[in-house]
Amino acid sequence: MTAPRIPRHIAIIMDGNGRWAAARGLPRAMGHRQGMEALKRTLKAVRERGVEILTIYAFSAENWSRPEAEISDLMELLRLYIRAELAELHRDGVRLRFIGDHARLPQDVQKLMQDAAELTRDNVTGTLVIALSYGGRQEIVQAAQKLATQGAEITEESFASALYTADLPDPDLLIRTSGEMRLSNFLLWQTAYTEFVFTETLWPDFAAKDLDAAINKYQQRERRYGKLGQLA
Ligand code: FPP
Repeated sequence: MTAPRIPRHIAIIMDGNGRWAAARGLPRAMGHRQGMEALKRTLKAVRERGVEILTIYAFSAENWSRPEAEISDLMELLRLYIRAELAELHRDGVRLRFIGDHARLPQDVQKLMQDAAELTRDNVTGTLVIALSYGGRQEIVQAAQKLATQGAEITEESFASALYTADLPDPDLLIRTSGEMRLSNFLLWQTAYTEFVFTETLWPDFAAKDLDAAINKYQQRERRYGKLGQLA
């Protein structure tokens, strides 16, 4: 079966902010700032193309080992993003959802996230999933612990519904920018049959044409889910 024209769910590893800044002799924070602009552009482009769900890797569990100043810059950007964009996202019918282990995030950021998720929970025209303090292995372990505590039967279905992404379809397409070709602990369970597209473009430079190129590659793939292909 060839892939349907437009993926329903796209996941993005937004990589290369630091290199984008270094290439211009700018502080890393400027790279992240431009990364936020790229996110706004990309969400708009994704919605215009009829993609229903966008999941972004904004801060990994491993990112806690970055210098404190950079962590605080990223937290500040998150505050800025939610405060500045929430009203418009809500007006446009976008549901915001946050996944990850949020206990380590600053209290005010947790509150902003909870309020944003609550405000937009019934929106139906699209979903933006922001992975924050997220690690795929940690997600899998907490799902296993949850099911064990409940004494629940462990099946693929019960396991999937114990993950942060319960009720969301798996990503059809995962894009990673900046030339790196690994998953870095992102959506380990959910990407079992996802198509991967890697681009050299650094995240702050990512534009509609890069999205179209990735969707184009996706459309040329044959998604077999382990079955025989059309040429067999
Ligand atoms: C990877 O680039 C990017 C991140 C660790 C952070 C991603 C954050 C943003 C795009 C900011 C906007 C997000 C929100 C939700 C407001 P890197 O720093 O690892 O780049 P490098 O590999 O070139 O150093």
